Amino acid sequence: MSTGATTEGPTGNTVAAGLPDAGKTPQRIGVPREIFPGEKRVATVPEVVEKLIKLGFKVSVEAGAGDLSNFSDDTYRAAGAEVVEGAAALWSAADIVFKVRGPTTDEVALMHPGQALISFIWPAQNPELMQQLSAKKVTVLAIDALPRMLSRAQKMDALTSMAGVTGYRAVIEAANAFGRFFAGQITAAGKVPPAKIFVAGAGVAGLAAIGTAVGLGAIVRANDTRAEVADQVTSMGGEFVKVDYEEEGGGGGGYAKVMSEGFQQAQRAMYAKQAKEVDIIITTALIPGKPAPKLITAEMVQSMKPGSVIVDMAGEQGGNCELTVPGEAVVRHGVTIVGYTDLASRLSKQSSTLYASNLFRLTEELCKTKDGIINVNMEDEAIRGLTVTKDGNVTWPAPAPKQPPAPAAVAKPAAAPAAKKGGHGHGGASEPMAGNKLAIMFGVAAALFWLVGSSAPPAFLSHFTVFVLACFVGYMVVWNVKPALHTPLMSVTNAISSIIAIGALVQISPIGGAVDRPNELITWVAGAGIVLTAINMFGGFAVTQRMLAMFRK
Ligand code: NAI
Repeated sequence: MSTGATTEGPTGNTVAAGLPDAGKTPQRIGVPREIFPGEKRVATVPEVVEKLIKLGFKVSVEAGAGDLSNFSDDTYRAAGAEVVEGAAALWSAADIVFKVRGPTTDEVALMHPGQALISFIWPAQNPELMQQLSAKKVTVLAIDALPRMLSRAQKMDALTSMAGVTGYRAVIEAANAFGRFFAGQITAAGKVPPAKIFVAGAGVAGLAAIGTAVGLGAIVRANDTRAEVADQVTSMGGEFVKVDYEEEGGGGGGYAKVMSEGFQQAQRAMYAKQAKEVDIIITTALIPGKPAPKLITAEMVQSMKPGSVIVDMAGEQGGNCELTVPGEAVVRHGVTIVGYTDLASRLSKQSSTLYASNLFRLTEELCKTKDGIINVNMEDEAIRGLTVTKDGNVTWPAPAPKQPPAPAAVAKPAAAPAAKKGGHGHGGASEPMAGNKLAIMFGVAAALFWLVGSSAPPAFLSHFTVFVLACFVGYMVVWNVKPALHTPLMSVTNAISSIIAIGALVQISPIGGAVDRPNELITWVAGAGIVLTAINMFGGFAVTQRMLAMFRK
């Protein structure tokens, strides 16, 4: 591993700073048993152990680590892992440790310099833990610090995979505490109305909850401060309920901000109305680095019908409901308020499998050489974002990830004089420089083009012109699209590529009134080509529209 200090690793590797090739012995990944009270998840599962071994690593798992997720020691052994008795032996033998919960003080004491840890850490909320890790001279990758907006990071995004599980489980907990069906029914014994559910906060967990509740037959409404989620709510089968107050709710990076007092008042009025109407409220509202906003007051709880249920998923950050008791289910004013903080752990087999898969994808990024040795490459934007300590040096917070410039910002004319006034002569000089560079580049390109054109045959020149223009347009399109939109971009370019249908059309019919019919085989092949490209074209545009609807404000 190329980290920072030079130390003797347990495998005998020299774990050395800046010396990626130091020692060729594969590194050992250690997976301890989670010791946080009530935590049932485990950081890797047998299926992933096999993949880690294929990547060149050795894997040790503490005895009993997977018991609470229904992965026995034998299944780990069968997958090729070594099962180790006791945490001390596990930690001391591992070059890299995979964990779910951040390490306790006792666990940090088991760490050794040069070791790497991949786990949830929440560095902003745990300054003391950060100090301890730094003192231990270890390299820590906090999975919660992943720059989520990078499209490349999605496969490693444990926050999203855990939020999907918790959203689902919140609905199951609500159904368990609720005394009725979710779906409406007409039976011989009478008519059962569908349950009405209100979801506060439609991020990843909220959307998962909406999808699950709609699937069970409930009528679902939802609200969020970020206007762009309205379409996402609708696409999941819910109804978006707006707050009657105009204010932009985005706080950057897809996250929310603390809203103005005026907005909060209008939001409270709307939530009070919903509380009287619905049977179940599920709250997921969070603002990074801030206590959870209090959205459901004691009076709102009191106004709900007896037997109603609130599932407050923000319990760990103080709760969205004033009466939530974090970690417990309590009954207040006849309403069951579920404040469990271990929703993901309550579906431990599923969440462990997803988490293990996220960590495997991260390991692949760390070990592109597939030789069982990780390289914490600080030049890689995703890895840089995750790395909160590097050989003891605190590297958190990471600089904001680079985004391609938004076209609107570039167009603002007022910004340029202001930048020059700032006194940075550098900034003022750089603009004409960029213009000159562009002019030189165009000049050189035109000269080359003239050179090629003067000697090449005319047919070549026309194809070459189309080729150069296609490269230019392609470059401009990709460069101006934000990374988060790269998936719909790929889909629409795939649809556009169906332009090859024109080739098939030309083949199927005689050109320019030519009398010869094309050979029958060619007609059939061209016909099949037209059908296939039509599917690609119409399907591509339809899928793109669906994807864009999820991003549209
Ligand atoms: P989160 O867990 O921080 O917050 C949950 C939700 O609560 C958010 O939608 C937020 O807007 C909402 N909220 C905050 N304060 C509120 C209030 N006072 N009233 C009502 N709602 C409130 O967010 P999460 O679920 O982790 O992600 C949020 C967003 O981040 C996603 O919807 C997505 O846009 C973006 N994201 C993008 C990814 C990507 O591009 N690959 C991956 C993951 C997330």
